[in-house]
Amino acid sequence: MILVTGGAGYIGSHAVLELLNSGYEVVVIDNLSNGALESIERVERITNKKVIFEHGDIRDSAFLKYIFSKYAILSVMHFAGLKAVSESVSSPLQYYDVNVTGTLELIKAMSTAGINKIVFSSSATVYGEAATVPYVESMPRGQSANPYGASKGMVEQIFTDLARADERWSIVLLRYFNPIGAHESGDIGEDPKGVPNNLMPYISQVAVGIREKLTIFGNDYPTRDGTCERDYLHVSDLAEGHVLSLSMLKTPGLYTFNLGTGKPISVLEMVLAFQRVAKVELKYEFGKRRDGDLPAFWADASKAKELLGWEAKRDLAAMIKDTWNWQSKNPNGYNS
Ligand SMILES: NC(=O)c1ccc[n+]([C@@H]2O[C@H](COP(=O)([O-])OP(=O)(O)OC[C@H]3O[C@@H](n4cnc5c(N)ncnc54)[C@H](O)[C@@H]3O)[C@@H](O)[C@H]2O)c1
Repeated sequence: MILVTGGAGYIGSHAVLELLNSGYEVVVIDNLSNGALESIERVERITNKKVIFEHGDIRDSAFLKYIFSKYAILSVMHFAGLKAVSESVSSPLQYYDVNVTGTLELIKAMSTAGINKIVFSSSATVYGEAATVPYVESMPRGQSANPYGASKGMVEQIFTDLARADERWSIVLLRYFNPIGAHESGDIGEDPKGVPNNLMPYISQVAVGIREKLTIFGNDYPTRDGTCERDYLHVSDLAEGHVLSLSMLKTPGLYTFNLGTGKPISVLEMVLAFQRVAKVELKYEFGKRRDGDLPAFWADASKAKELLGWEAKRDLAAMIKDTWNWQSKNPNGYNS
């Protein structure tokens, strides 16, 4: 049985779906601060399998103790955390509390229960502002521009020290690039609360008429068309990467993988491709650069291919088609 923290969130719900389809039993814990119970119910409907859900917080040690004593958990996938970069700048303590203290509580509860296999949701942001592209796992972590990125770097360091100190632990750090898209059913997807922080949910909310227009932050970057370039990957490819990464947990140690396509796409290219694939018009304008945005970064994902047999299979058109399918079927997300 696999414990999935944050399994009612965007990426977690897609991972739960892939785990069930691969024959795993899953317990989800989530405090629903940014997740939806409805996503779990829909995963159950899509897969025709049951998910055990327990409502609670990863910072609550008594709750974690209860979970590990009640269920026969063999390994953990740890998605629970806060992820909005701008919010992390205004509320740094909250971010360190959930992302760092929460992870420490989880590790302590796992240790007490004798469970030492974990896959952690890290981010390409840990490479820092000065790294050269493409990012390769062998590069050192860099200086993060914001508390969100710093919290991911701190947790990576904690896991690195833990693996060094206690050879029973098997730890996989998955550094995601920019996950977008939704399950092909259109029944689960990204449902941001409030104004979306990321490009794709913003685009799809403009497309569906919730927001008037998109502002592209900066068109004077040293990139192909002046707008920022990112490595977007389909969330279902990312979820499949998680399932494959479980194979690494058989052997103690610390393993780090980039999960991306290796192909940078610019913001403007994304907007134009969305209009073409979804056959909708998007109002957009160019605005000033946003603080902390890097011009361009993408993954060298060859290590994941070599060791996990993982490679992003879905192309940009599939990412857009599935985003649009989810958004148009559920214009107001899970509250539709
Ligand atoms: N979405 C991205 O672009 C991206 C990129 C890199 C890394 N990540 C990381 O992947 C993970 C999942 O991201 P996501 O996009 O699915 O975010 P999400 O907000 O949709 O999911 C996170 C889930 O964790 C839950 N949660 C938050 N705090 C909790 C707590 N204290 N106790 C229990 N549950 C809690 C939320 O309710 C939510 O369901 C996060 O750790 C995030 O930092 C995301």
